[in-house]
Amino acid sequence: MKKVLFFLLCNTVLFTTVFSQTFTNSIAIPSVLTGTNINLSVHTGTVSFYPGFNTNTIGFNAYNYLGPTLMLNKGDSVHINVSNTMADTTTVHWHGMHVSPSNDGGPHTVIPPGTTWSPKFKVRDDAAMYWYHSHLHMLTAEQVTKGEAGLVIVKDPIEAALTLPRNYGTDDIPLVVQTRAFDAAKQFDAMSAIDSVVLINGTKNAFVNLPAQVVRLRLINAATMRLFNFGFSNNATFYQIGTDGGLLAAPVSMTRLRLAPGERAEVLLDLTGMQGQTIYLTNYGSQLPNGYYGAPNPAAMGMATIPGYSSNGLNGTDKNLMQINVAAPTASPVTTIPSSLTVVTPIPQSAANFTRTKTFTPKTMGGGAGLNGPFVINGQSFDMMVINDTVPFNNVEIWNLTNNTAIAHPFHIHDVQFYIIDINGVAPPANMAGRKDVVVVPSQQTVRFITKFENFADPMMPYMYHCHMLAHEDDGMMGQFLVYDYFAGIKENTSNSIFAKAYPNPANVSWNIMVDDVNSIKSVELSNAIGQKVESVKIVTNYDGTISINNNNLSSGVYHLKVNTTKGIATLKLIKN
Ligand code: C2O
Ligand code: CU
Ligand code: CU
Repeated sequence: MKKVLFFLLCNTVLFTTVFSQTFTNSIAIPSVLTGTNINLSVHTGTVSFYPGFNTNTIGFNAYNYLGPTLMLNKGDSVHINVSNTMADTTTVHWHGMHVSPSNDGGPHTVIPPGTTWSPKFKVRDDAAMYWYHSHLHMLTAEQVTKGEAGLVIVKDPIEAALTLPRNYGTDDIPLVVQTRAFDAAKQFDAMSAIDSVVLINGTKNAFVNLPAQVVRLRLINAATMRLFNFGFSNNATFYQIGTDGGLLAAPVSMTRLRLAPGERAEVLLDLTGMQGQTIYLTNYGSQLPNGYYGAPNPAAMGMATIPGYSSNGLNGTDKNLMQINVAAPTASPVTTIPSSLTVVTPIPQSAANFTRTKTFTPKTMGGGAGLNGPFVINGQSFDMMVINDTVPFNNVEIWNLTNNTAIAHPFHIHDVQFYIIDINGVAPPANMAGRKDVVVVPSQQTVRFITKFENFADPMMPYMYHCHMLAHEDDGMMGQFLVYDYFAGIKENTSNSIFAKAYPNPANVSWNIMVDDVNSIKSVELSNAIGQKVESVKIVTNYDGTISINNNNLSSGVYHLKVNTTKGIATLKLIKN
């Protein structure tokens, strides 16, 4: 009897999804891991998103898709074991968290099959929702699409002192919003633009029961490519209280909230007196301006298309994502929206000691291919062997991001939270005036942010910045930067008074050379210990005014670098490990 009923239900779902949607599955709420010793085990699995089909997935611990939520306290020192039980290599990155390069879990920190990576770090972040996900070189989209992601919620005393809903799973609900494309065999297709299936916390056709009171929704766009324009089907006003990396100064009222891949927002929704009603979390794709993935036209100008884009029923349309059944209030409900939250102190522009410019290309007017990229930053495709930027430790920098392509890109940087200065010359809207680690750079526009690179420096291990549309990232729209402490004991010989320093030195893979005026360089010459010129190495002048020398193929020993400038000659003694 049960089987027959199930079969009928499936048929109904399969044949009616095109016209209407039924939300029949109770949303999964990821369980919580607390404490300072946390074990994560990443493994492959299968999930039956479609009856009769097993989709290959990746999950953590008890989950075959996504993972538990790590609930951490600011100030705690945590020790995490990430065991990789898969047949493939992976990495696990703590997106948004301010940790040292070696604890960051970027593409350099691989976890080979059968091994355990054990980062240890102090939680320095403000109360907010962060996340962890695979960051494997060129395979991030594939692994994250399969489910290799989970949430991190940080608590701190400032947040704890506010009257806010914080009963996880009851009035404080994490919502991992994703869209997925399935192939004919119902396997994920990370590269397809037919990502028309919505998963929330990994649940397809999800409903959630929420109490008739003020509830807190922690939204994350964990989609591979898509931007969402969230609202509620009753056009309710809701209040954003937090951004990627912290609370806002005060709740910001709104009826629409745009989130790009990687971005998070905490919102309060007042359901008081609505017991028995049903509303929906809705994506208002028709109201996304052209130029965003998810809008009627993903290109800001011209007729460019992504293959399959226009046949994806989510693009440019308004679609319910999740059903909300309003249930009885809890015993001690929160019924008010606070008037203020925290003190947000953006770094003043006057504090900046450097401006770094990043330009996204290619610029594509019209033609189709340009929307799929590959896109590059400052003309360079990501190369694991090239350090794109070297940031002096404790620098306060303005990053100037200009998008010359036809499509908006969400830019993400590791290590720091930043403050947006302006978007095409205009101060950010109130809901973006807090701590951020992802910012959308619209087509043909410039975004500036300010941040400080403090607490962590490492001469060897870089951090990443990249587009958080994962296919773009994997295709090379990424760069890496070292935060370098120039005063941490580099020793070398320079002649004359030309300022030139090499780091790291000794080095295993490459040296970076900083010269006080890169435009003054006439020639750079490398010779070995007995004075023979070394012709076999690549000497690259970087956009940030440094020189990098890949020494991977050199045998270990002492080398001499002659930097011939219009002001004189600097000679550096370089050591290859
Ligand atoms: Cu969410 Cu570099 O990543
Ligand atoms: Cu990150
Ligand atoms: Cu992009």
